[in-house]
Amino acid sequence: MCGIYGYTGYRNAVKIAIEGLKKLEYRGYDSAGIAVLEDGTITFAKQRGKVAELEAVSNTLSNDARVAIAHTRWATHGKPSEINAHPHLDTGNTLALVHNGIIENHNELRSMLQQKGVKFVSDTDTEVVAHLVSHFYSGNLLEAIRESLKLLRGAFSIALIHRDMPGQIVAFAHQAPLAVGLGKDEAFVSSDPNIFSPYTREVLYIGNGEIVVAHKDKIELFNANLERIDRKLETLTSISSDVSKGDFAHYTLKEIFEQPTSLLAAINGHFINEYGTANFQGLTLSSSDLLSVQRILILACGTSWHAGFLATYLLEDLARIPTQVEISSEYRYKNPVVVPGTLVIAISQSGETADTIAAVRELKAKGAWILAICNVESSTLTREADNTLYLHAGPEIGVCSTKAFTSQFVVLALFALQMARMRHLSKIEGQEFLNAINALPNQVAKVLDIAPGIAQLAKKYAHFDNFFFLGRRYMYPTAMEGALKLKEISYINANAYAAGEMKHGPIALISDNCPTVAFCANKQTYEKFISNLMEVKARSGPILAIAEEGCEGLEGIADDVIIVPKTLDELAAIPSSVAAQLFAYYIALCRGADIDQPRNLAKSVTVE
Ligand code: F6R
Repeated sequence: MCGIYGYTGYRNAVKIAIEGLKKLEYRGYDSAGIAVLEDGTITFAKQRGKVAELEAVSNTLSNDARVAIAHTRWATHGKPSEINAHPHLDTGNTLALVHNGIIENHNELRSMLQQKGVKFVSDTDTEVVAHLVSHFYSGNLLEAIRESLKLLRGAFSIALIHRDMPGQIVAFAHQAPLAVGLGKDEAFVSSDPNIFSPYTREVLYIGNGEIVVAHKDKIELFNANLERIDRKLETLTSISSDVSKGDFAHYTLKEIFEQPTSLLAAINGHFINEYGTANFQGLTLSSSDLLSVQRILILACGTSWHAGFLATYLLEDLARIPTQVEISSEYRYKNPVVVPGTLVIAISQSGETADTIAAVRELKAKGAWILAICNVESSTLTREADNTLYLHAGPEIGVCSTKAFTSQFVVLALFALQMARMRHLSKIEGQEFLNAINALPNQVAKVLDIAPGIAQLAKKYAHFDNFFFLGRRYMYPTAMEGALKLKEISYINANAYAAGEMKHGPIALISDNCPTVAFCANKQTYEKFISNLMEVKARSGPILAIAEEGCEGLEGIADDVIIVPKTLDELAAIPSSVAAQLFAYYIALCRGADIDQPRNLAKSVTVE
């Protein structure tokens, strides 16, 4: 994972680097560092912890420096510590580099270099690259990188400064995102081009095995054989807005409360009421392409996978298309069979999730056509997919995904409606479904209105260390997503199960010390679900139900009930999930957790 950043130009490079790192912190935040090149000397500062802690010590670096590289880390090799923080330098401090990705053969290279007398100071795979390039350097840095690239295996993007190359940043990449932005008398290097936008929108994307030299007034690009490549700069379409928390205590809470608006943004302009159908103008598949789809395969990770899991119920139920969802990191190594007529949908909020991108590449190589559902424009996934449907949810800063999840599901619901209407669903049925979709933003607003009540309930449940989250049918993926929210922001163990599975083993864990959050909003299986809850109750398990208005039969079973507005079974995941997000948020607040940046996590998971 990790975020890399580089600056060369006329401004205070340390200040610009700190500003850039703050925006890249979503890629990891366990340590950070900067190195500057000034008058042929490299100096650096590193700190364990967040960028704010690096900023506090960055006054040791010269304000006159005009070239810097910087890094914010999510530890892969070596624990979070100052010594393992990037930049890493070679023995003579002739070069410093920052790295995003993993060098898979780092052990082998480390041994080779140690045999030549190199002394390592950190546990990282990255330090190997610094010593390797230095080992091959004899006056021509590009030659040294060319030789190093022949040996390096893995996925990586690297930015480097060298004391013999004043005013320049040299960067190279393999299977990892890297972009260079060119402004007026200044250039930027980063894993994420969106952060250049206050200064420039002219961007060059660096491909596999390519090497780029960024000067303040020009960019030189080479292939792995050091032949020059002539590639035009692209103009970034999105403008990254500076986002503040406003009056909210956390970004996560702000983003939960933004959902009436983000849902509207995902829905608006994508339906035709008159025909009771959805219509995505950005979709490049023709009607006959859509009609020829026989199977759908959804790839995603984490919360996006939960949105995809929900969509499997919907696409089969509503559109009668066999649909399978796969965890990207697993699917890739299954040696999958892709049968003709399969539409592949890759879901990712960030568009940078390495596992999903790797699975997409694998499938593209097998000839599959990829439809992405993504929130971030110009992200790697959107550039590699054949077509993208955007969420338009606005930046999601909180590490735990909230508004992106509900937007992903509503976009998938609209897509399912379009597929269903092209097949067998009547106009009237389509209009009813659309009406229910259009009611969602207001229904979510009603759930937000009861946030104070949910906060009170959270106080009652915050001391428990183990939870079950149960649901049936559409409420099963909903329970999984609710449990993930609780785990990641409160650090509480939460097991999600299809309620019918409890008696096959997990019920052994039920006790008065292990509450169950019961997702009741699936009317078709409601009676069966109530029986499952009685089995929990009979074993003294406390029950907090999230149920729809008007539902009956919970008295005497549930200890507490959160009532959410009533909708179709197919869409009930949205109001119920918002209630579960609030519950997880308030429990995390009671437990004093770092809600926006939970321990061990990163917003973009850019390593496999
Ligand atoms: C959980 C969460 C993660 C992400 C996952 C995939 O709240 O945010 O589980 O959903 O890392 O990320 P994207 O959607 O960016 O591919």
